[in-house]
Amino acid sequence: MAKVLAVVGSPRKKNTYTVIKAVIEAINRRREDITAELIHLPDFDIKHCDGCSDYCEKTGECKTEDDMQKLYPKLKLTNVLIIGTPTYFWDVSGLVKNFIDRSLPLYYTKALKGKMGAAIAISAADGHNQALAVIGNFFQLHGMKEVGSIAVVRGGEPVGKAELTMANALGEKIASQLSQ
Ligand SMILES: Cc1cc2nc3c(=O)[nH]c(=O)nc-3n(C[C@H](O)[C@H](O)[C@H](O)COP(=O)(O)O)c2cc1C
Repeated sequence: MAKVLAVVGSPRKKNTYTVIKAVIEAINRRREDITAELIHLPDFDIKHCDGCSDYCEKTGECKTEDDMQKLYPKLKLTNVLIIGTPTYFWDVSGLVKNFIDRSLPLYYTKALKGKMGAAIAISAADGHNQALAVIGNFFQLHGMKEVGSIAVVRGGEPVGKAELTMANALGEKIASQLSQ
């Protein structure tokens, strides 16, 4: 059974969460044989990378004992990784940056190579393209294939019909690519 892991990088259950849930719902509507799991990053204790580098390069594992250890197996098994972030100072949130940095063991072991990725960035006004680029670079460095991205500008308002339509289209695209 194909697997989708969707990571919500906002501390809130607001816009990023809503858009990611809509992507998952679209995938599930289209394909019942795909399991999609939503990971809300604030529910996980993920410390920053301590920069030791050589331990994960040598062992393929991270020695920091926190909830990232629960996510490594999920990341290894998933077929699709969706990362959604609020735009914070024209960048990804700190929650997402820690998650990205802590993926270094998977980079050394090429564990994400060939998997599909999709990026979502929500801003109030601007900087979402920079946040999307950070996630796009993460996919590229891991040897993943980016299937799509959504940039949402909401001016601080809740997401509306247009954004949910984009989320639906991204979910449809992921589901159809997984069929191939
Ligand atoms: C620390 C912080 C930094 C922010 N920086 C930006 C920014 O650079 N550009 C922008 O348009 N919005 C910025 N915002 C607004 C958020 O991107 C926006 O409210 C977004 O919808 C939050 O996503 P969420 O509803 O999923 O939490 C910032 C918000 C916070 C809390």
